[in-house]
Amino acid sequence: MTGYDIRTAVAADYDEFLALFGGAMMFEMRPDDLGRQMFEPDRALVAVDNDEIIGTTRALTRDLSVPGAVVPAAHVTAVGVKPIHRRRGVMAGLISRQLREVPEAIAVLWASEPGIYGRFGYGAAAFDVSYEVDLHRVGPRAVRTRPGELGELPADDAGKQLAPLLRSLQEHRPGVSGRSELGWQKHLQDKPDSRDGKTARRILVHRDETGTIDGYALYRGKLNWESSGPANEVSLEELVALEPTAYRVLWHHLLTMDLSAKLGYGYAALDEPVQQLVTTPTALGRRVTESLWVRVTDVARALGDRRYAVPVDVVLEVTDELIPANSGRYRLTADGPHTPARCERTENPADLVLSVTELGAAYLGGRRLAEFAATGRVIEHTSGALATAGAAFGWPVLPVSIEIF
Ligand SMILES: CC(C)(COP(=O)(O)OP(=O)(O)OC[C@H]1O[C@@H](n2cnc3c(N)ncnc32)[C@H](O)[C@@H]1OP(=O)(O)O)[C@@H](O)C(=O)NCCC(=O)NCCS
Repeated sequence: MTGYDIRTAVAADYDEFLALFGGAMMFEMRPDDLGRQMFEPDRALVAVDNDEIIGTTRALTRDLSVPGAVVPAAHVTAVGVKPIHRRRGVMAGLISRQLREVPEAIAVLWASEPGIYGRFGYGAAAFDVSYEVDLHRVGPRAVRTRPGELGELPADDAGKQLAPLLRSLQEHRPGVSGRSELGWQKHLQDKPDSRDGKTARRILVHRDETGTIDGYALYRGKLNWESSGPANEVSLEELVALEPTAYRVLWHHLLTMDLSAKLGYGYAALDEPVQQLVTTPTALGRRVTESLWVRVTDVARALGDRRYAVPVDVVLEVTDELIPANSGRYRLTADGPHTPARCERTENPADLVLSVTELGAAYLGGRRLAEFAATGRVIEHTSGALATAGAAFGWPVLPVSIEIF
């Protein structure tokens, strides 16, 4: 490494850290008390040239739902290099060290550009769908509603009331990040200068017949009047509802807002059930993007931590150029989704050969090993192993990440 050093951050780096990342993203990032409180300096790295920070990365301490479990996952963010220091290997130095140091068995991130992280062993594990719904064409199917089942919450302590719903979503669907109490406060922060011309955030809730909140939606509106008439825009930020009635009623309400022509939503799953609730799904205006990238940093622990859809007994030979200790053969055994799996090193011959990148991509159950076998990135040595392991790594519900962190 020449011309700069990499060190663990200290609390006093917070403002400069933020300014550097904001500058790299071309986004004004203002320090605030909550952000300062949530800064975990011992989980952040900085590249320093003559006492000046020229590169940053950090890992947030959060958990993540994976098939059949919720596990600690290093949530990597704020990867940035000062523009005048680009393409000198600063990011490569930061990311490589970070991956060798994180204590969690997996690291996850959202990539600004898909070309960046594959070289470090991250695999794109979840796809999110962005909607730009044409509300005049989409045709929401009629829903019977009860008076009083919809309500609104003030933001103050909404996090406490909504947290159990997010936890239920984690138990149901892989790819969902958990939120601490501070995390909820940050998520529900609503600074007027960050609204981009939209209204304050509304917190819409659905209550079941006992009055318990069983679904919520966070959304804003934007006034828009065209020569042909009203054409307001609804920005849906988050919708969590596992009970079918709550899910149907919340979506129906949002898809039928008065004066509105468009609804934008960035975090739908590929198998988002709302597709069944409209007569014209093409009018949802769907665009698919890679969302969560997964990097397995400890193969045995990561594979043992999740559950498997069907019984499996397979030897995987894994290669990992960045963390050589990960390379080797592992025997993975599981009896199905209801019991814990076992994964340990073995000298037995490999049934399948793959790198950590494919393992990361398949880890959340959203991508099939066969997809990678088709391009030679997974090699089958034992006939039938691809089919069995492929089915075991899959999951009935597709992963989705419902926030960019
Ligand atoms: C992306 C960014 C962090 C890269 O930093 P950097 O120090 O220039 O990267 P490095 O010099 O370490 O590059 C390492 C490798 O990644 C490649 N790479 C870097 N940025 C890339 C990009 N945006 N897309 C594809 N490949 C990229 C480099 O070409 C290099 O490849 P090589 O090893 O084959 O030569 C930096 O340009 C940046 O801050 N960009 C704006 C903010 C951003 O997008 N951050 C990522 C948030 S998820």
